[in-house]
Amino acid sequence: MFPIEEFKKLRTPFYYYDTDLLRQTLKEIRANTDPYMHVHYAVKACANPKVLGIIAAEGFGADCVSGGEIQAALNAGFPADRIVYAGVGKSDWEIELGLDAGIFSFNVESIPELEIINHLAVLKGKKARIALRINPNVGAHTHANITTGLAENKFGIDMQDMERVIAIASAMDGVEFIGLHFHIGSQILEMDDFAALSRRINEIQDRLETAGIPTVSDINVGGGLGINYMQPDHNPIPDFRSYFSTYRKNLRLRPGQQLHFELGRAIVGQCGTLVASVLYIKSNPIKNFCIVDAGMTDLIRPALYDAYHHIENLTAESPSDYVTYDVVGPICESSDVFIKNYGMTRTRRGDLIAFRSAGAYGEIMASGYNCRPLPLGYTTEELK
Ligand code: LLP
Repeated sequence: MFPIEEFKKLRTPFYYYDTDLLRQTLKEIRANTDPYMHVHYAVKACANPKVLGIIAAEGFGADCVSGGEIQAALNAGFPADRIVYAGVGKSDWEIELGLDAGIFSFNVESIPELEIINHLAVLKGKKARIALRINPNVGAHTHANITTGLAENKFGIDMQDMERVIAIASAMDGVEFIGLHFHIGSQILEMDDFAALSRRINEIQDRLETAGIPTVSDINVGGGLGINYMQPDHNPIPDFRSYFSTYRKNLRLRPGQQLHFELGRAIVGQCGTLVASVLYIKSNPIKNFCIVDAGMTDLIRPALYDAYHHIENLTAESPSDYVTYDVVGPICESSDVFIKNYGMTRTRRGDLIAFRSAGAYGEIMASGYNCRPLPLGYTTEELK
């Protein structure tokens, strides 16, 4: 499945993107969406230019959270009118970049931000399309660090302020209020969570109608669909059929309303693998340490969220000989541990180790701590 002979020629650690799987994943999304459904790839998950280029070429939009991401999306060929831009702290230059490019919409998260977008748009003689990001106060069954839709989270505008903010936005010359935006969290596998969001949006639309507020043209439900980290080969393409049909069944859209999604992890998560080499095996009376040349600087999810990434020895000599290891990196931090007490095939110096399901929030979250070079990324095409 992996081009191991090609891997052996490369300097580790590096990311490998299975672009055949990426293309199949995108195809599956296409097969399960209707023309009124628009999927914007969440660039924050992975901004590798080759990966972005493939997603853009397949006709998807982009969901950005910074000026840098807007620029990366434009460079990769995403059309500006399919770019949405969210974030609680948009700087003036980032807003100006979005205005100049003519992005589809700014997902606005506060009144002061709305005022600045309006001000900058008026100065340029432009009108910014905006969607209000509403905090729906809907929980999600996922890690506490990656829930976003609860009142305690910093994201979005409180539901009780909606009518007031809409009135303010509607009176502004520099903005056009076109939509409502939501996002409840990430790595969500329970479709009930998305059904709960749909029901909350139904209540909100009913409430706004009762208040005499005209129907918006666009509803954006964010992203959040999870992947199977435990068994990456089990269903490498997420269950898009259930995901989209949950919204189809539960969300009552008004005639003509367009539905937007911002999927990141579900698109790129299973396509990416971090490949490292084993440097040393070190044992003491209670532990075997498998020390690899990738660290938390290359893949921070285990250290930051206790996340599980399935680990495989790609070059094991005797695949049936199992040993328990703590798999650790070279960084001078006690938290630089990928996993503890992990049973895997007996490992020797020089073996290639794969950290699976690392396509999303892997390479993009890499840092140069300890003056380490950033990992490179290769695609299937390049290694053929
Ligand atoms: N839209 C908004 C407004 C978001 O905040 C996010 C993710 C997405 C879309 C895409 O969510 P996805 O479909 O990828 O779940 N670094 C963490 C995940 C942080 C997610 C942040 N927001 C991790 O490694 O698990």
